[in-house]
Amino acid sequence: MSKSLSRRSFLKKAAGVGAAFPFVERFPEVFIRKRTSVSSIPIILCSRGEEWGKKVMTPGWDLLSGTGDLLDAVEKSANVVELDPEDMSVGYGGRPNEEGVVQLDACVMYGPTHNCGSVMALENIKTPCSVARLVMERTDHIQLVGEGALRFARAHGFTEANLLTEEARLRWLKWKENLSDKDDWFPPADGKYEHEEEDEERTNGTINVLAVDKNGDVAGITTTSGLAWKIPGRVGDSPIIGAGLYVDNEVGAAGATGRGEEVIRTCGSFYVVERMRGGMSPQEACESICKRIVDINGGPVKVKFTDKFVAVNKNGEVGCAAIMGKKGKEPKASFMTEDGIKVIKATYLIEKPEEDD
Ligand code: GLY
Repeated sequence: MSKSLSRRSFLKKAAGVGAAFPFVERFPEVFIRKRTSVSSIPIILCSRGEEWGKKVMTPGWDLLSGTGDLLDAVEKSANVVELDPEDMSVGYGGRPNEEGVVQLDACVMYGPTHNCGSVMALENIKTPCSVARLVMERTDHIQLVGEGALRFARAHGFTEANLLTEEARLRWLKWKENLSDKDDWFPPADGKYEHEEEDEERTNGTINVLAVDKNGDVAGITTTSGLAWKIPGRVGDSPIIGAGLYVDNEVGAAGATGRGEEVIRTCGSFYVVERMRGGMSPQEACESICKRIVDINGGPVKVKFTDKFVAVNKNGEVGCAAIMGKKGKEPKASFMTEDGIKVIKATYLIEKPEEDD
């Protein structure tokens, strides 16, 4: 499927899936874009809308559309957001853990060798996906964590830096001082902070960058600072192969953002890729994992998290689905091909409540 998937045909098809997905009829709207089913390689996809998408994908696209290397393309693209302090959920400037320390998670997977690398709870290095790539290429291991990952990065000449920007520090301090009236941290006497945003959401912001080159080879990266104010050492889905990212050169690639705990316990990205292997389009496969997560959590009324999946198959078809969304404010992804940049509005399962806007 996936030429043009009307709501009716989606529901009909989904009904055939049977009792395994009892909440499928709650899918409120389907925003399948006909253009997304047009196969086109090379292609690079990122799990954000146009604004970040353009910044992030441009260096990758420049490599992919020329004679550049596939892994360089996904790495250079992911580095854009890792190095940008304006983004407070990935790399430098990411929100810290509960002790005010930024700990980063990232992984990379390369289709032609089916090899992968990851770093977890890495401190002081702005570009964790580049360290993950070296774990893949220059060690016999797949995962390095914490101090060991940092020492490995040092050995490869990465420069250390304080990753906690002033803005992230102030947001963290506000969270810390207002956490409890039973501890010894006090908010300012007048209750006013330098940065007066709404109460800080505990975000799980992340970015996935997936690509297929002109030979049909596939690669991907997922990188994040993880859940804001997490317990030190907490690792989410992003650096876990099969959870936050999975690549299979015979099939395609998938990546996840949002509450990592749900993605880990469903092996989310692996699930999406295996569904594509079984014949689903990337869009159907992304919807399928969203239904699975909602299902195992007891249905839509119990679910409050905002996980989103993106996928691309070997032919350059793309998909994006989320657990929560709102008409007109759908979660987004974007991709670049020789036709330029296109935005995908995610299909979603649960209408976000008004108060969450
Ligand atoms: N998806 C990012 C995290 O949960 O850490």
